[in-house]
Amino acid sequence: MHFITLDSETDFDGWRKAARALALNDVTPSEVSWRVAGASPELFEPIAPPLEPPQGTFSVPAKFVELAEIAILHHNPERFALLYRLLWRLRGNHDLLAIATDSDVADVTTMARAVRRDEHKMHAFVRFREIGREQKSHFVAWFEPEHHIVELAAPFFARRFADMPWSILTPDVCAHWDGHAISITPGVAKSEAPTADRLEGTWRSYYASIFNPARLKVQAMQKEMPRKYWRNLPEASLIKPLIEGAGRTASAMIANAASEPHKPQKRLEPSKASDKADDMPHKHADDIETLREEAANCRACPLYKNATQTVFGEGAQTARIMLVGEQPGDKEDLAGKPFVGPAGQMLDRALDEAGIDRSKVYVTNAVKHFKFVPRGKIRLHQKPNTPEIRACRQWYERELAAIKPELVVAMGATAAQSVLGKITPINKNRGHPIDLDDGTRVLVTVHPSYLLRLPDAEARASEYRRFVQDLKIAAGVLRKSAHAA
Ligand code: URA
Repeated sequence: MHFITLDSETDFDGWRKAARALALNDVTPSEVSWRVAGASPELFEPIAPPLEPPQGTFSVPAKFVELAEIAILHHNPERFALLYRLLWRLRGNHDLLAIATDSDVADVTTMARAVRRDEHKMHAFVRFREIGREQKSHFVAWFEPEHHIVELAAPFFARRFADMPWSILTPDVCAHWDGHAISITPGVAKSEAPTADRLEGTWRSYYASIFNPARLKVQAMQKEMPRKYWRNLPEASLIKPLIEGAGRTASAMIANAASEPHKPQKRLEPSKASDKADDMPHKHADDIETLREEAANCRACPLYKNATQTVFGEGAQTARIMLVGEQPGDKEDLAGKPFVGPAGQMLDRALDEAGIDRSKVYVTNAVKHFKFVPRGKIRLHQKPNTPEIRACRQWYERELAAIKPELVVAMGATAAQSVLGKITPINKNRGHPIDLDDGTRVLVTVHPSYLLRLPDAEARASEYRRFVQDLKIAAGVLRKSAHAA
């Protein structure tokens, strides 16, 4: 038996060197036992003679190296052996990774996905607390990752909070940023993390402000923000009372809404032609969830560097309408959801007036990261440029393929550019369906933020009516296609 001791749980270089030497010495996977320094040695196994210095060479697909680098951060102690077995088999079959049903390929892919999901959760749920304000401020957060992701996730915080010295403490390892470099130290107990400070109030009022009782979906919310993270989130203490009060608050919102009676709403029945087979809901759900996970790590343009997270589309998997906006704003960037800020409230109101139920449409953006310039404490929105729109288009295309809506509503110039594939003036093209060569039917209209920016109340009211009118045309297109079917 060959015992390989790696320096740490995340020692990918050590694993790679050892795996190469083992494979070149024709050591089969069953003859290797992997461990991490500090673990007790296997007492009863005969130890194999030392390996010969590796002679010769072999290659594996670059995709394997990328996958292994991430999967090795999984907490499963079998991962080193599993990766070596896959490497061993790849030498004989270079195309093995393309066989998604192969159990080694599936296991490693699932592990890599779990690691990426954990990284994404860490980006979203780390909350810093300020300590030592009297001398020199330092920001400290406590986090309990599932996998060995601290070193992977730390550069995000260094970019995002470049000007503030911080430490992220975890039971596994701790990461520290002094404004110049990241350092890693051993893990600590939770009792070493600070518990409360003035930032807590900020998080709590922010969370209460983006909580929309009318759109409350407890299960979906718990999926995005699983309970295990709640104990370290200052805003968590609000979740229960907000959920409990949601019914009351939503009724009050309805009671306070415009006094004009609602027009009778026609139910938008799915057309037979595009019937989103009820027997396949999981396929759609998985598709979008997989895309969301992949997009969480998108590095296709530099916007990911400063944004908090990828804000992917969300909504009904059976949606017949897909609404496309420009890019997430400040509130969306923090919440990780599209159209939850002021533009989202304007959109909700207009959809409601147009007889479109937001819970039945799919809402997304042409660009999935928030682009901004910092101005003091404020992050000022910046319009995405053409390379950024192009780099992000792959996600829109894949959302389109997964949802297969009957109509795409492109709101504003950026969405129109992405959806139609060219710069398109809004006023000339708005309000009537445009059929694209690939079969997509598109309706162009203004962006709800445009309405918010109009300084003149009269213009705002008339532009709002036109916007609602465009959305009614969208609803009408669906009704027609339902009749034609
Ligand atoms: N504006 C957008 O285009 N999208 C959002 O999600 C929010 C504001």
